[in-house]
Amino acid sequence: MITCLLVFMAFATSGVTAIMMEATGQVVAVENGTVSAVVLDCPYSLGPDDLNGLVLKWFFNHSDQPIYTWILDGDIDEPQVSGLPPGTVDTSYKHHEDPRHRHRALRLLAPTPASSGDYTCVVSSHYDEKTHVVPLMVYVLPLKLEFSVEETTSGNITVSCSAEPAYPEPRLQLYVQVDDVREPLKTIADRETVYEDGVYNTSLRVELPLQHLELYGDASLICELHFPHTNVSMQESIDLRPEVEEEVSQADSPALRAVVHLGSTPSAASRQGVVGMSVLGTWIICTLGSLLC
Ligand SMILES: *[C@@H]1O[C@H](CO)[C@@H](O)[C@H](O)[C@H]1NC(C)=O
Ligand SMILES: *[C@@H]1O[C@H](CO)[C@@H](O)[C@H](O)[C@H]1NC(C)=O
Ligand SMILES: *[C@@H]1O[C@H](CO)[C@@H](O)[C@H](O)[C@H]1NC(C)=O
Ligand SMILES: *[C@@H]1O[C@H](CO)[C@@H](O)[C@H](O)[C@H]1NC(C)=O
Ligand SMILES: *[C@@H]1O[C@H](CO)[C@@H](O)[C@H](O)[C@H]1NC(C)=O
Repeated sequence: MITCLLVFMAFATSGVTAIMMEATGQVVAVENGTVSAVVLDCPYSLGPDDLNGLVLKWFFNHSDQPIYTWILDGDIDEPQVSGLPPGTVDTSYKHHEDPRHRHRALRLLAPTPASSGDYTCVVSSHYDEKTHVVPLMVYVLPLKLEFSVEETTSGNITVSCSAEPAYPEPRLQLYVQVDDVREPLKTIADRETVYEDGVYNTSLRVELPLQHLELYGDASLICELHFPHTNVSMQESIDLRPEVEEEVSQADSPALRAVVHLGSTPSAASRQGVVGMSVLGTWIICTLGSLLC
């Protein structure tokens, strides 16, 4: 007993048995329905003596029951999966030729929004233990991102943007863009989000005086949808063009003509997680100043 303890202490202080683990990385974001599987890696490295009693486990969210267990220092070289429906994890997946790394990665088959969450791998030996967290987000881009500008009778304009359905809850933000510089529209917006059947419908609405936009001159209004902690975004834009009209020269102020560009076709870039919107149509919604509509 005493000998055991001494051996243990000798290993623990010598440093040879330290398991090394890369720092927790960024969110792994994949679009729902576009990949057949996603691989979550547990990037450890071992010293020559670290195989002693080495066990790798993957946990999901805050559960204390592992979903995946691989005993590296054993005769059975097959990972065990528990608590998940059959066909969720590919246990035959070999991440690496090196037997000490062969089954360290979790290969999740056909991930859905319900697969989203924190996956934590814990690698432990008799002497050391290291963990690594991989946040997974399986997102759903909204089928429609609708953006509109309307005049109210009082001379204000109402800007509305809605996205439905999406997962996780997206952030909608309005910007005014002049040339290539965009700044957030600093007006408090009414926001509304409903959650149903695992997806979110989100909308926002802003009412502001027309003069507020006239200050920007030739500008675009942009509604951007963004999933937090990712680079995944999509946007719609509406061009606002103040135009001096000769026919209405009796009016002192230049007329503002709002030209609306609408479109909703995600570009091929959606596969890389960034979606652009093509401009499908242009029409003049109203000539202000002359009509005061
Ligand atoms: C996710 O993708 C699957 C497979 O394409 C599809 O059946 C399911 O409806 C999608 N979920 C959502 C919320 O769009
Ligand atoms: C896992 O955690 C994420 C983030 O906290 C949460 O959104 C998700 O609903 C959880 N999933 C399950 C199945 O508990
Ligand atoms: C969310 O949007 C979808 C698609 O437009 C619609 O079918 C559904 O009824 C909406 N759900 C709620 C709760 O408003
Ligand atoms: C026009 O919009 C401003 C700013 O949102 C608001 O304070 C004002 O009450 C609105 N005017 C009318 C007549 O609704
Ligand atoms: C977002 O994009 C930037 C620039 O391309 C990159 O440095 C960063 O790692 C990306 N972030 C995420 C969460 O993917």
